[in-house]
Amino acid sequence: MEMLTRPRRLRENPLLRSMVRETRVSKAGLVYPMFVREGTGIVEDIDSLPGQKRYSPDTLAQGLIQVARAGVPAVMLFGIPQHKDECASGAFDPDGVVQQALRIAKKEVPQLYYITDVCLCEYTSHGHCGMLEQNRVDNDATLPVLAKTALSHVQAGADMVAPSDMMDGRVLAIRRQLDQAGYTGVPIMSYAVKYSSAFYGPFREAAGSAPAFGDRRGYQMDYHNRVEGLKEARLDVAEGADLVMVKPAMSYLDIIRDVSQAVEVPCAAYSVSGEYAMIKAAAQAGLIDEAAVACEAAVGVFRAGAQILITYYAKELAGWIDEGRIG
Ligand code: PBG
Repeated sequence: MEMLTRPRRLRENPLLRSMVRETRVSKAGLVYPMFVREGTGIVEDIDSLPGQKRYSPDTLAQGLIQVARAGVPAVMLFGIPQHKDECASGAFDPDGVVQQALRIAKKEVPQLYYITDVCLCEYTSHGHCGMLEQNRVDNDATLPVLAKTALSHVQAGADMVAPSDMMDGRVLAIRRQLDQAGYTGVPIMSYAVKYSSAFYGPFREAAGSAPAFGDRRGYQMDYHNRVEGLKEARLDVAEGADLVMVKPAMSYLDIIRDVSQAVEVPCAAYSVSGEYAMIKAAAQAGLIDEAAVACEAAVGVFRAGAQILITYYAKELAGWIDEGRIG
């Protein structure tokens, strides 16, 4: 049968198949999120995220060494303080949990790159991501607190800060604060396009950061919107964001594609707790092949246009890349 174009010609030989791949993935683009809890001697399982752990600052290096051994270059740290208050004072305490963890981590496992999540929801008694003014999150009153928090992370050793609060103007506020203190070379990765998502459920269990009343729809984005995501990304770049992030990843691949094409800074995507938990649960129920599905999900994010993938599967993905399952 005459057929000039036969797509299968490029699929039959495995060497050729990998030669013509359109998307290459490598460990260099992986970031592993980790939880640090105030206290000592803690290494505990997280029920809502099977396979993930909470460490205290003194035990964190155990976990970090595994990350480094897997060949994952970077971690993103989330803090869980012992005490919370109205004004999130634990977030910018020079001796707060993230600050303590950073000092130890940078000394004991200096080969990793340290990114910190800058947000207040883990530190406020009400669980919202900013300062409250009569049950409403006050955008402008929150900015200096975020800026102080980012600065204290950098002073403790953070290589990059990642604000996730979704207040307007926070990237500029943080950039100014860092520059004034002489940290002109520390990049900001903005959670620029962050949707109000039920996929964060397991994380809020893990970090104890669920809002005590209401929800986050007054500051996080409505998931019906796409153009608004471009606006957010462009605004943050104009305010000095060095990288932008889209979050969640799996149900937002169209947004990753649009944002990565619209702005001239690297685009990260955060495959969030609910995405991880769903794959885990389905695998544990014997319904899917965990490694195969996790690989497919991860490659999809890179194919959509992300250069960086933040994922709870980072260590496993690194192993699967080494084995040549994906790459
Ligand atoms: C803090 C923050 C959240 C996540 C990252 N940073 C929770 C939220 O916004 O409620 C979610 C990450 C995940 O689900 O894995 N604001």
